[in-house]
Amino acid sequence: MQWLNWCWINGWDDRTSGIYKPHGQRICPSYGKIGFRSCLRDRALIQTIKVFGGTSHPELTESICAYLGIQPGGVKIDAFPDGEKLIKLEDDVRGKDCFVIQSTCFPVDENLMELLIFLDCLKRASAAKITAVVPYFGYARQDRKDEGRVPITAKMVANLIATAGADRVVSIDLHAAQIQGFFDIPMDHLGAEPVLARYFRGKKIKDLTVVAPDVGNMKTASKYAMALGGELAIIHKRRISGSEIESTEVIGDVEGRNIVMCDDLISTAGTVCGAAKLLKSRGAKNIIVGATHGVLAGKAAERLNDAPFDEVIVTDTIPRHDGTRAIKNIKVLTVSELLGEAIKRIHRNESISSMFNQNY
Ligand code: R5P
Repeated sequence: MQWLNWCWINGWDDRTSGIYKPHGQRICPSYGKIGFRSCLRDRALIQTIKVFGGTSHPELTESICAYLGIQPGGVKIDAFPDGEKLIKLEDDVRGKDCFVIQSTCFPVDENLMELLIFLDCLKRASAAKITAVVPYFGYARQDRKDEGRVPITAKMVANLIATAGADRVVSIDLHAAQIQGFFDIPMDHLGAEPVLARYFRGKKIKDLTVVAPDVGNMKTASKYAMALGGELAIIHKRRISGSEIESTEVIGDVEGRNIVMCDDLISTAGTVCGAAKLLKSRGAKNIIVGATHGVLAGKAAERLNDAPFDEVIVTDTIPRHDGTRAIKNIKVLTVSELLGEAIKRIHRNESISSMFNQNY
């Protein structure tokens, strides 16, 4: 029972209160959990699985391992003076089912390269199966040639991950679901809806309209509208540059309504802030924005603080960096149970889709 004590000593799983706080991260306790059963007593899991984390988000790796009731795999990640990375596994992985958790968030190229090196390292150490768990898949927005002489970087990154040694990939809310097809290996595309919808439902919002801040988010918004029992509206958005957008028109009824706006990610926050201002000008009441990935780059913090949001909800697929700590009304929900459950099911060859069959 040494492993179980280790979890308790580290305060990772307070099963009496149900409140889970990895390393002081500010995670909304009552809504972060989505109700999957923890695996804390599964000894078989402990013997056959290895879960490693890169340096992009150690807290998330720890949270996932706490859910699985295992310790993160031992690894030393160093950099040579010129910046080249060196990874050395401290645990034997021969014949093991290995998972590497690494979000390819800022610094994107460094985190991506580290993931590739990690995969190569596991392959050469004779892991039986290797799964790259990439909660936030960077470069996903470069998924097509929308003008001449540009790359399709999302496809190139998918190729790199497979070539480096991954047998399978897990990610959450890719910018476009079709990116799954860029991988020539099995890909499990998870949605953060169970986590976010549970939070929204807990607020019992009256006169609710769910808003898609652009056409790309229409399908997601309609799923939320159905799950939460609200109306649906959509905003027409025109992108002027990488960081500037214009929200021009709302289709749907927003006057006197409370709004939940859904996006896959908030980067510079131009999209959601433009949408919020337009909604207010059309008579919307309270506005909550929920996005899976809090990229929060550039002027995002400043813009979100100036915009008429009552709450900004993101998940912990990306760690919060210093510049975003000043965002008022921000709440971070954890996807650690979602990912932990997916890892457990992949390891046991169980269905992933049935995780999402319930009406969240
Ligand atoms: C757009 O297609 C995406 O769904 C997001 O709305 C967009 O990438 C967010 O970017 P930003 O926060 O910079 O407007």
